[in-house]
Amino acid sequence: KEYEHILVSRPAEGVGLITLNRPKALNALSSPLFKELNEAAEELDKDESIGALVLTGSERAFAAGADIKEMKDKTFVDVYRNRFLEDWTKITALRKPIIAAVSGYALGGGCELALMCDIILASPTAVFGQPEINLGVIPGGGGTQRLVHAIGKSRTMELTLTGRNFSAVEAESWGVVSRVVSEGEGKVVEEAVKMAALIASKSQVAVQAGKEAVNAAYEMTLAEGLRFERRLFHGLFATQDQKEGMSAFAEKRKSTWNHS
Ligand code: HXC
Repeated sequence: KEYEHILVSRPAEGVGLITLNRPKALNALSSPLFKELNEAAEELDKDESIGALVLTGSERAFAAGADIKEMKDKTFVDVYRNRFLEDWTKITALRKPIIAAVSGYALGGGCELALMCDIILASPTAVFGQPEINLGVIPGGGGTQRLVHAIGKSRTMELTLTGRNFSAVEAESWGVVSRVVSEGEGKVVEEAVKMAALIASKSQVAVQAGKEAVNAAYEMTLAEGLRFERRLFHGLFATQDQKEGMSAFAEKRKSTWNHS
């Protein structure tokens, strides 16, 4: 399918790659772009041949934020009645893992979009930030909440209230990104695709359960989360992939998953 603001490809077995493609606007996130992003992500999520997704932008910008030109004249009534931003978090409901490969600017909604992904890989050029305070607003796509979980209150407060950017090195040392990928054109996307292909090569039932269990940590108390994890673990003993995986280990052979 042809999209106007994004590109969709399958760069490796089991991997769906979505590339934000509004280069002239540094991938500013507009409503039409998000509509396409949601549609493409949902389609890949439903596709049985896909095991993991990668989301990226350009070398210069993952995304420089929500489209300020689109937003600037909206009134309270516009944004409230039309539930502005409500459908911008749909990718958090995907069953399959999604990896953000971030090069260049990931600001405002761009930073928040990366934070909505399951794993973030950054290029050394990545620049993150929540500069909304400079526009007379605050983050609206989860920045204040997801950053608190990722990096704690004091840092989140500083970033939100000063609007200062933070580097790939800071993002890595704070644990916002899983790692910074070494320098080189396209490298962060290549690494993300490799990681997605590795995830796609596992039992998809187990991958889905793993993602669900990790995400539960954000919503539950420790006791509830531990019980939830253990129940999912128990549940996997009803799958063929558990029998296969453990038999293959005992028989010293490679397992072949049938994802059921
Ligand atoms: C609309 C944008 C844009 C944005 C860049 N552009 N960011 N258009 N919305 N968020 C456009 C510029 O207007 C310009 O278009 C072109 O992209 C290139 O940008 P320049 O500013 O000329 O590039 P440069 O000087 O290299 O500066 C890059 C930059 C700067 C530092 C990233 O563009 C910038 O500060 N952008 C805004 C960042 C920001 O405030 N983001 C938060 C948005 S609010 P023309 O037509 O002039 O060439 C937000 C709310 C989140 O995200 C809500 C929840 C999701």
